[in-house]
Amino acid sequence: MDFKVELTKRTEEINRIIHERLPKQEGLQKLILEAAAYSVNVGGKRLRPMILLETYKLCGGKNPEECYDFCAALECIHSYSLVHDDLPAMDNDMYRRGNLTTHAKYGEDIGILAGDALLNFAYELMLNAITKREPSAALRAGKAASVIAQKAGVYGMVGGQTLDVYLTGKKMNAEQLDFIFRLKTGALIEAAFMAGAILAGADEKTVSELEEAGLAVGIAFQIRDDILDITSTQEVLGKPIHSDERNEKMTYVSLYGMEKAEDDVLQYSKKAENLIRNAGDNEFLIQLTDSLINRVK
Ligand code: IPE
Ligand code: IPE
Ligand code: MG
Ligand code: MG
Ligand code: MG
Repeated sequence: MDFKVELTKRTEEINRIIHERLPKQEGLQKLILEAAAYSVNVGGKRLRPMILLETYKLCGGKNPEECYDFCAALECIHSYSLVHDDLPAMDNDMYRRGNLTTHAKYGEDIGILAGDALLNFAYELMLNAITKREPSAALRAGKAASVIAQKAGVYGMVGGQTLDVYLTGKKMNAEQLDFIFRLKTGALIEAAFMAGAILAGADEKTVSELEEAGLAVGIAFQIRDDILDITSTQEVLGKPIHSDERNEKMTYVSLYGMEKAEDDVLQYSKKAENLIRNAGDNEFLIQLTDSLINRVK
């Protein structure tokens, strides 16, 4: 398998899945539809929907189309989290995915509404999918939607972002940093692994082991994000560097130092790999998690 070729193929497939599902840009509210589509279409690695699809295959799922609405929903939720994360009241960043952030392009009011629109649209997609399916598939879809909702909300991403902004400019201890990483970044990646497994009909034990794998990937991913905020360039990363320092945010690197940060990325990535291998056979998924953890952007 040529990983790079496969990755490009799958990224394009996900872009198509999302594109087919975004609402038509028409009507008197066209502006918000445009801004929402801009936020999603402007780029991004599509990690979360890709993990969802690959985990579905790992767990023996035979009909990938049943994941598509959930793939698009998860990417909409992730994109909304970025749109709001970049707002002046939060990280105040002007570039994302190599382009102007949504609020920088459309204004702060439309930036806020574009995030709201994407979040609501994600739930529309998932609920429509559930109501269209026959009872056993609908139940799996309902469970997947429920996990995604929980991991996106106050017990997940929103909860993590809350402590992240609350502790801006303040000292943070190891427990608080761990909580932030688990929730703000870990939760949506856990949701990707879990929803893929649930849609494929995996048993509870497998779902819970894959949740653990998602957490390990998520923590490694955020440690790498904190490292890249220091070591990368805006050209490569597509978003400003030194955002954390400018916002007086403590990061994995400021708490533990660069050496431990690099070491821990490796440890978490090994843990994730073992858990994924235990759950089934999908070499692409193994290489994908490896590439994300060791990524340069
Ligand atoms: C950025 O996520 C936010 C973090 C959780 C670190 P990604 O690095 O997956 O962003 P895109 O989707 O590729 O732009
Ligand atoms: C944000 O973490 C994670 C989200 C839930 C959006 P960061 O603030 O470090 O993400 P970037 O660096 O702006 O992508
Ligand atoms: Mg942030
Ligand atoms: Mg940010
Ligand atoms: Mg960051």
